[in-house]
Amino acid sequence: HIPTAASREFSDYQSARGFIQKHPYPLVVKADGLAAGKGVYICHKQAEAEQALVDIFRANKFGEAGSKIIIEDFLKGEEASLLVLSDSKTYVPLASAQDHKAIFDGDKGPNTGGMGAYSPAPVITDEMMEKIDRKIWRPLFQGLKQEGIEYRGVLYAGLMIRDNEPMVLEFNVRFGDPEAQAILPRLRNDLSVVIEAVIAGNLDQINLDWSPEPTVCVVMASGGYPDVYDKGMLISGLEDIDDPGVTVFHAGTKIENGKTVTNGGRVLGVSAGGTNIQESVEKAYRAVEKINFPGKQYRKDIGQKALKRTE
Ligand code: GLY
Repeated sequence: HIPTAASREFSDYQSARGFIQKHPYPLVVKADGLAAGKGVYICHKQAEAEQALVDIFRANKFGEAGSKIIIEDFLKGEEASLLVLSDSKTYVPLASAQDHKAIFDGDKGPNTGGMGAYSPAPVITDEMMEKIDRKIWRPLFQGLKQEGIEYRGVLYAGLMIRDNEPMVLEFNVRFGDPEAQAILPRLRNDLSVVIEAVIAGNLDQINLDWSPEPTVCVVMASGGYPDVYDKGMLISGLEDIDDPGVTVFHAGTKIENGKTVTNGGRVLGVSAGGTNIQESVEKAYRAVEKINFPGKQYRKDIGQKALKRTE
């Protein structure tokens, strides 16, 4: 009974096609398996849903990950990501974050693995945290226990907050990327001590201590991402990042002949903390502008929703 969108599963093109001809729009088509964050199609009209089915079932775009799909109601609202640590007896939520999944500003264009994040997410108020605990975490951990699953580690819930109610979009059994690059810089505890407590089963003895300073992470991606992109582009300007409040996380990079070059779709995560969200946004973008590689792309509006909510 965890709140989520109404959905149906399909394993073949014909029955899925019959369903999308009758379902109201928008709707969401999801490849059931792992697709690096790209297996979700938000379809505003039937032609888009048909294309999604062709990509998945006919062109086999996601291989085995697309052998089963889910078609679900579209949930309108504001997204947030919540991560929780569990040692199988106790669970402890981490600070909230908000991802930016679409490639372009204003949440336009296809979905990516995530183009930027900030923590905390102002949409997750204390009251919402309590509601999420009651409606999601408690039944989830109770369900895991009933099934005899000892869950130790980090669990990620992608949420949509609609009419002040949390709905689950997805669970992942890992940290979020780029959410982790916005959440973890705010953690004042030694992360290795926290992880040891998860493994040893004494998470109840840990108090997480969070910096109140918001952190913003802007992802710098290769030109063409999330579709085809080139690799091996020379990255310059990394040595010019001297602000102690800024951390550059390497995602899709490698060293070639002593130089750092691009080696993936999402190349760098540039995180910055400041006394308020405005300052964090400015710091992160100052750093992003110093770093260059041919074809670089990044969203210019990371943090804007948080700014609007806190105004
Ligand atoms: N940023 C979304 C994820 O890590 O799944």
